[in-house]
Amino acid sequence: MNANGVAELTRTPLVGLPNVGSQTEVYATAVATRGSLVDALKRRWAREKRRRKVGRAYDMALEIARLVPQGSEVLDVGCGNGFIAHHLSAMLGTSVIGIDVTDTTDAPIDFRHLDGERIPLADHSADAVLLCYVLHHAQDVSAVMNEIRRVLRAGGQVIIYEDIPATSWDKGVCWIHNQQWKGRTGPCSFRDESQWRELFRRSGFEVCSERSLSRARNLTHPVKRRLSSLRTVTARSATLPANPCSQL
Ligand SMILES: C[S@@+](CC[C@H](N)C(=O)[O-])C[C@H]1O[C@@H](n2cnc3c(N)ncnc32)[C@H](O)[C@@H]1O
Repeated sequence: MNANGVAELTRTPLVGLPNVGSQTEVYATAVATRGSLVDALKRRWAREKRRRKVGRAYDMALEIARLVPQGSEVLDVGCGNGFIAHHLSAMLGTSVIGIDVTDTTDAPIDFRHLDGERIPLADHSADAVLLCYVLHHAQDVSAVMNEIRRVLRAGGQVIIYEDIPATSWDKGVCWIHNQQWKGRTGPCSFRDESQWRELFRRSGFEVCSERSLSRARNLTHPVKRRLSSLRTVTARSATLPANPCSQL
């Protein structure tokens, strides 16, 4: 069939189907319907991802709010999208400050860009510092811990969430995480529990309490993880009562 024949055919209404127009129109309608279905599915998927991100941050903020007293001045180091800081601000009745090596954050929080190693905060200005799945990204983890010691008030606490590659499965999940992140903030350095404890001790902190968290808490990143609460050694011995740490 030549080009004229095709043009004629596509202008011909389909026999037996009322009001459906030419084959071209039917085809165009089908493509448009499929296009809008794909668009709808994409929008639905994006909404699902947003809900998961905000919901996860809400759950973590609830967990943290049980450990940090109301009204505390909190710094979230490596705040990412900022939703943990955002939810926690509402829960504690304060404005949680978020800092990150990235330029912006999604949630409307008091955000400061971290340029280099120095945290843009005065000495002894925070009651609590959060490090939620950040330390394994730090290229100089001792420098980060030193900065946290500087900005923490006496008796202040550090809340740390970390991935712990305990099994081959965990190591595989952490390997994938490293592939996703190494181009952005550099290679990840994962440690086991005793290595983290040793690093905290060398940085002048002691672990007050800690507990394991289930792999199932994040099904898209199913790795063994740990929640730890630290205090500076000197602050505790100088100012704190006998049982200073909140129970995790
Ligand atoms: C896995 S994300 C976690 C984000 C957020 N804390 C959360 O739990 O949703 C790690 C974050 O740490 C940030 N980051 C990496 N190295 C950092 C550093 N040296 N200081 C501060 N933030 C850093 C990254 O930009 C990223 O936003």
